[in-house]
Amino acid sequence: MSDILSDEACCTLSGDARSDLLARGYSRRHFGRISTLLGMGAAAAPLLARAAPSAGPKAAFVGHPDMVRIGSNECWTGPFPDAAQAGIAVIPQGNRYEPSDLRQTLLFNASQVEGVPVDHIQPWAGSSDPLCRSIVSFAGPGRGVVTANPTYEAAWMVAKWLNVKLTRVPLRARDQATDVRGMLAADPHAGVYYVCSPNNPTGTITPVEDIEWLVDNKPKGSIVVVDEAYLHFAGTPSAIPMVKAGKDVIVLRTFSKLFGMAGLRLGLCFARPDILSKMLRYDGNYLSYMLPVTSEAIGAHSLLMADAIVQRRNEMIAARDFTCAHLKKRGIPFIPSQANMIMVQWSKPAAEVKAAFAAQKVEIGRSWEIWPNRSRITIGSMANMQAFCTALDKVMA
Ligand SMILES: Cc1ncc(COP(=O)(O)O)c(C=O)c1O
Repeated sequence: MSDILSDEACCTLSGDARSDLLARGYSRRHFGRISTLLGMGAAAAPLLARAAPSAGPKAAFVGHPDMVRIGSNECWTGPFPDAAQAGIAVIPQGNRYEPSDLRQTLLFNASQVEGVPVDHIQPWAGSSDPLCRSIVSFAGPGRGVVTANPTYEAAWMVAKWLNVKLTRVPLRARDQATDVRGMLAADPHAGVYYVCSPNNPTGTITPVEDIEWLVDNKPKGSIVVVDEAYLHFAGTPSAIPMVKAGKDVIVLRTFSKLFGMAGLRLGLCFARPDILSKMLRYDGNYLSYMLPVTSEAIGAHSLLMADAIVQRRNEMIAARDFTCAHLKKRGIPFIPSQANMIMVQWSKPAAEVKAAFAAQKVEIGRSWEIWPNRSRITIGSMANMQAFCTALDKVMA
C-alpha cells in the first residue's frame, strides 16, 4: 500500500466516523489510511500478514497442483458435502439479492448454537474485516494495541499502518498461553487487548478464566478481542458467554478453518449491539455488508452439523498425533498444540528449511520474528502429513 493512499483525498468515511476519529485523537491524515484499510475489507488482514517481514521467501511450488499445501492453516478439504449442497441449491437463484431469508437463517442458527441474541451477531466476509475494524474502533493515538508474541500478526500490521502504539508480550513460558496479566501490566491504558485462542501459530489455549480476568481488570473504554478462528479444532470453551453477559468483548469466528470455506469468505462477529454499531459506523452503505448467498447457505447449514464438526476435529487430531509421533521419533522439538497447527523447532533458520521442503513439493508455513528457527506446520489430511514426514526424513538427511 503506497503512501499516496494515506492522503485525505482518498477518504470515503462518513461525517459521523470522521468526528468520532477526531474526538479519539486521530488526525485528518489518518482518514485515507482508515478508508483504505476498511475498503480492502476481507482482503486486508491476510494481505497485511503476507507482507510481514518474517514471512520468508515464497516457496517455489506454491499453488502447483502437486504441492502438499500445509502452509496457510487452511482446512485440507472443502465444506461439509451436505452444506455444500445447500450452496449449490441456491446458485440458480443467484440473480436475486435476497433469494430467501438466508442471512436471517445464518443469524438464527448462530444464535441457537451459541446462545446469544441475533442482534449480538454480525456476519462478515471472513473475520479479517472485523478484526481490522476492532482496532480502528477502539485503539488510536494514546490508546495502543496489546497482543501476545508470537500471535496472528493482523493486529500488528493494522497498528503499524495506523501508527498506533503496539505492545507485544511473550507467551507464558510454562504453557505458551497468552500472558494476560503481563499484557495488562505492559500497557495498562491500551484500547485493544487481542487474545487469539487457540493461538496462531502455537495452537495453544488461553483458559477462559484468564480472558475473564483480563476483561474484568482492563481499563475503561477498552475492548478485549478474542479471536476464536481455530476453536472448533480444539473443542474448548468459548468466550462467547462473556458477550452474552454484556461485557466489553468482541469474539471473532471464521468459517475459513474447520468449515473449509477460506475462499468462500464467511465469518461471524459476536458483541453487544452498541459495540457492533461502533464497528459499523465507518461505512454508510448497507450493501457493503451483503454476503454471497452461497456462503450464507453453506455457513448456515454447517453450523448445525455438530457430529460432522466432531468427526473433522477427530480426523485432524489423528493426523496431528501421527505427525507428532514422527517428530518425537526423530528428536525434533515442537510445542504441543490443541489446534490444526504445530510450531516445530529446527536447528537452523526456518527460511532454509522451508525452501528445502518446497524442493520436496511440500509447502510448510512461515516463521515468526521472535522464533526465527521455528516453522508453523498446518495439519492437513493424513495423506498430507505422511507426505510431510517422508519429506522431513529427506530434508533432515
Ligand atoms: C487467528 C486468525 N484470525 C483471523 C484470520 C483471518 O481469517 P479469515 O479472514 O479468512 O476469516 C486468520 C487466518 O489465517 C487467523 O489465523
